[in-house]
Amino acid sequence: PKAGIVVVGSLNADLTIYCDRLPQPGETVHGNGFAVNPGGKSANQAVAASKLGGQVSLIGAVGDDPNGSMLLESTASAGVDVSRVRRSDVATGVAVISVDAGGENSIIISAGANGTLRPSDVTPDAFRDAAVVCLCLEVGIDTVITAAQAGHDAGATVLLNLSPYAEVPERLAGLSDVLLVNAHEASLFLGAEADVPDADAEAEAWEPVRSQFADRGLQRVLVTLGSRGSVVLDSLARGTEDQITRIAPTRVSAVDTTGAGDAFTGAVAARLAAGESLADAASFASVAAALAATKKGTQAAYPGIADVERLRGA
Ligand code: RIB
Ligand code: NA
Repeated sequence: PKAGIVVVGSLNADLTIYCDRLPQPGETVHGNGFAVNPGGKSANQAVAASKLGGQVSLIGAVGDDPNGSMLLESTASAGVDVSRVRRSDVATGVAVISVDAGGENSIIISAGANGTLRPSDVTPDAFRDAAVVCLCLEVGIDTVITAAQAGHDAGATVLLNLSPYAEVPERLAGLSDVLLVNAHEASLFLGAEADVPDADAEAEAWEPVRSQFADRGLQRVLVTLGSRGSVVLDSLARGTEDQITRIAPTRVSAVDTTGAGDAFTGAVAARLAAGESLADAASFASVAAALAATKKGTQAAYPGIADVERLRGA
C-alpha cells in the first residue's frame, strides 16, 4: 500500500520573544530572550511526521534569502523531501511570536513567499505515493483546494487543519476526509448552531457536535482541547460507542506550546499513513504534541517514535 505523506503549505521564520506575560494593546513589556527558529505550520507538520517515521514530501515556497536557507536545511535534515519547495523572489514568510511564562503564545504571520504558492505548484506527480495529504490555511485557498483535489484523486486521506481559521468553500470541506480543529475553530466552523461543550465534558456531550459536523459533510473530525486532551468524532466508526472517543491529556509542564498543534497534526498524518485507526493515531499524537510543548521552539522540539513510546509506557 501507499505510505507517503504530502504536506502542501507554509514555511516561516519564527521570530520569538519570551516574556513573563504578553503585552496588552498599547503596552510595552520586557522580554527575557529572543530566538529565530524554523516554523510555519506546514513545515512543522512535515518535520513532525518525518521524525515519527513518515515518508514526507513538502510543497511550498521560500525566499532566496538566509531564512529560506534555514528552513530548507531544517526540514531536509529532519528527512523531509524538499525538492518541491520553490525559491521565490519574495522574501521568506515570517512569524512574530510572543511566548509567556506559562508557555502560551500569540502569533502574527506575514505570508511573504508563502503568498506566491499557486495551484500550478501542486503537480499531480507529487501525489503518486500519497497515503495522506496534509493541509492548513497559511497559503492561498485556491492552492489548498487544488492540493485537496489532487490528494482525493490519488486516493489519499486528505487532512485539513482549519488554521489560522478562515471560512472555507464547501468544495474544500467536501474534499477533506479528516478535519483537525481546536474548540474555537470548531465553533466558528459550525456557526450559530454550534454547541461545543467545555473542554472537560464527557464523550456523550459531543454528540450534537458530531452530528452537526456530519450534516456539513464532515464525518471524521479531531477536536484538540489544549491541556485537556482531544476528542475524535468519527461518524464512520462502527457502533455508536466508537463514534466519539475522548483522548485523555498527557500531563507535562509546558515551556513553549508554539507548534504543539502542528506536532499533533503531523503525528496524526504519520500514524494514518502507517495504517493506524483515527482514534489510535489521535492518542499517539496527543503524546507527541505534549512532548513538543516541553521544549522551546517548534521543529527542534518534536519527538521521535521512541520518545513517544517512552512517555506512553511511563
Ligand atoms: O503553529 C505554529 C506556527 O504558526 C509557527 O511556527 C508560526 O510560523 C506560525 O505559522
Ligand atoms: Na515547543
